[in-house]
This record gives sequence, C-alpha cells and structure tokens, in this order.
Amino acid sequence: MKKKSVYITRMISQETIDDLKKHCDVEVNPDDRALSPAEFMEKIKGRDGVITLITDKVDAAVMDAAGPQCKIFANYAVGFNNFDLAAATKRGIILTNTPGVLDDATATHTWALLLAAARRIPEADKFVRDGKWKGWAPMFFLGLDIDRKTLGIAGLGRIGSNVARKAKGFDMKIIYTDVRRNQSFEKEFGATHVDKETLLKESDFLSLHLPLLPETQHYIGKKELRMMKKTALLINASRGPIVDEKELVKALRERIIAGAGLDVFENEPQLEPGLKELDNVVIVPHIASATIKTRLDMGAIAANNIIKVFNGQPPDTCINPEVLKK
Ligand code: DGY
Repeated sequence: MKKKSVYITRMISQETIDDLKKHCDVEVNPDDRALSPAEFMEKIKGRDGVITLITDKVDAAVMDAAGPQCKIFANYAVGFNNFDLAAATKRGIILTNTPGVLDDATATHTWALLLAAARRIPEADKFVRDGKWKGWAPMFFLGLDIDRKTLGIAGLGRIGSNVARKAKGFDMKIIYTDVRRNQSFEKEFGATHVDKETLLKESDFLSLHLPLLPETQHYIGKKELRMMKKTALLINASRGPIVDEKELVKALRERIIAGAGLDVFENEPQLEPGLKELDNVVIVPHIASATIKTRLDMGAIAANNIIKVFNGQPPDTCINPEVLKK
C-alpha cells in the first residue's frame, strides 16, 4: 500500500519528524521562514495530512488545494484562529491542536513578562549595557510592587488558571472573568468571579488569556484602557488582536496605564508604530510556549494525531469533533 504523505510547513523538532517518518512519507519546508499562501497551497497538493503553524491560514481554498484525499490539518499550537472550522467539517477534514502541554510554559512566560515590566528589567539591562551606570542610586528604576496586589485574569481556562495558581507565592488577590464560573478554583485560591468592569477597575496586573474570537477582538480598547488603574500593567500572551494596539500605544504614551508586557501583536511580525519607542512596555516575539520540552510535546501531539487518523482512529485533540460523526 502506498505510504501516506505528510507536509510540515516549517522545521520543528527532529524527534517529531523521525517519529512520523516511521509511519508515512514526510516532507518539511527546508527554509526557516513561513511559506507564502501560494507556496503553501502548492506544497500541500496531494498530501494526506499537514502539520501547520499559527501563521498558516487554513481556509476553504487551502483545503481544496490540498485535495479530497487530505484527512487532517494538525496545528502545532493550542490556538487555532488560523483554521476555518466550518469549511473543514464540511469537507470531512479533521482539525487538531495541542492543548495542555504548553500551559506551564505559557503561564511562566506570562509571569516573566509581568515581573520584567513591573521591575523594568529590560530598561535597566539596557542602561547597564549602554555604559550609563555610574553606581548605586536610591531613586532610579523604581518599579511596582507585586506582593499582595490584585491580579486580574481575563479567561480562566487552562493557561489563565495556571497563571493565577502561580500568584500564590506573591500572596495576591485573584479576580477573574470567564463565561463559566469555576467555584472549586475560587475556593482553592480565594479567587472572585467578577464582571469585566470590575476586572478592569480593580486589577493592578491584568493578564489576558482569551481565545481569539469575533467577540474577543479588541476586548481591550480605548474605553477599557481608560477604566484601568493608572498604575496598572496589562499583560498579553494570548492573541494580539484581543488588544487594540493603536489605543494601547496611545494609553502607554499618555500614561493612562503604567505599562504593558506583550508576547503577541495585532499584525505579527509588524508592530504598531510608536510601540517599540516606549520605555514602559516589554515586547517579545510570540515565544510564550517556546521551551525545548514544550515544543517536543507539541510535536508529539500533532504527529500522534496524524498517525491515529491514518489508522482510522479518532485523534486525541480534535477541535471539530462533529467531523468524526460523519
Ligand atoms: C499557541 O500554541 O497557540 C501559541 O500561540 C503558539 O505556540
């Protein structure tokens, strides 16, 4: 029987590729860059499965370019706003993601951003490297206290709750919004479910952990930024378009809020003009889940899903499960 064929749109861990090669023919984009939409469509033609990244838009045209034999697009990410779920289900194509394995890494990175922004670490690092440090001084690089402050979490899913759990060591008060209340979490962490307005008004540190949906686009905009405390920090390691970046730049410049820590941006890799000139924002290039083990685990889930589907089994982490009933 002819071996199934899989395309991987960018180099991922060799272990994942070697594992997949035991079961199917595998081709990987050899260049360390994202494929253009035209290259993407060309490369996936005739494949039985594809491992995609969040930068690969998988819509009806892409699915049709792959062809009717294509059974699965396995996203190498937990987020899947790059997928058209309805178009895939209509075509009987299975879509999967990699939930669970990146919660610790992403939550830890959220904390890294929060701590770096609160204690002005990148600014201070640059100051030393630029040779400006002339000795200890009592009044420079004064930052924000974290202990016993209020941490606001928008979206208490796997990652949001992990971030909240890590706040225990700082003895923080936790408030959160979510479409669902989580009473056992509230009990365990003394957390309080609040409405969005209270979250904005009371958080000293507001961390966003929402999926990108039409309803969450610009969840933080001009009005919301003006409801936040002047001393508050906004942290975003979810998806860029959840924050109106133009309004955020204005709010940071005018010190409407004290600062921000951003892993994600509205038009990656482009930054809103003016953002990188500000000293009250920490900016890193969408690396929240970038640890060696997490990347391996993400690859293992994606590969395993593909192998299962080729063997006629349901994948472990299907995001359009209606397709399995077809
Ligand atoms: C995800 O998994 O959704 C991240 O944003 C990329 O690793």
